[in-house]
Amino acid sequence: MVAQRYDRPMITRPIAPADLEAIHALLRAEELPVEGVNGALAAAFVAEVEGELVGVAALEHHGEHGLLRSVAVAPAHRGRGLARELSENVAEEAAARGIEALYLLTEDAAGYFQRLGFELMPRDDAPEAIQSSAEFAELCPDTAVLMRRSATVPARVTR
Ligand SMILES: CC(C)(COP(=O)(O)OP(=O)(O)OC[C@H]1O[C@@H](n2cnc3c(N)ncnc32)[C@H](O)[C@@H]1OP(=O)(O)O)[C@@H](O)C(=O)NCCC(=O)NCCS
Repeated sequence: MVAQRYDRPMITRPIAPADLEAIHALLRAEELPVEGVNGALAAAFVAEVEGELVGVAALEHHGEHGLLRSVAVAPAHRGRGLARELSENVAEEAAARGIEALYLLTEDAAGYFQRLGFELMPRDDAPEAIQSSAEFAELCPDTAVLMRRSATVPARVTR
């Protein structure tokens, strides 16, 4: 997939083992958890600009449910639709796996994910499988809010 709104060529593609170091660096720079990135992911997609890894979004699969996690784009490459494309890649992958609902936890980006069709919901209402995930139970602070969206309905991007 090639994003069009940029004068330097950008691609998104599935993760490869050689990407892990750059993904860890990107997540650490954004103070997002790196735990589980090496083992707990069902799928992940990265964005590249001229061979440099500049974005990531990942899927954890818990029972019937999906957890969108580790969505980050390097500051110099923001505002060009990369996180939206990466998040949609994850949603499509989730739908292909038979997952109906995608959940996420975020401290600062609820407004962003609302634009991708996610809705806020009480943390206590999360399905048990999601509540048992390390992201939910240990890694994300209690101040992180929970959001939910259908995996099968494409994002309605609102401005
Ligand atoms: C949130 C983030 C992933 C967005 O990446 P991106 O590639 O710039 O996103 P897109 O290009 O798809 O969308 C950009 C638009 O979203 C808006 N946006 C970005 N962050 C936002 C936020 N926290 N709340 C509301 N809107 C936000 C931008 O202003 C921009 O708006 P515009 O299109 O009207 O100019 C990126 O800012 C980031 O990595 N943040 C730090 C990590 C983080 O918080 N991750 C989410 C938790 S898992």
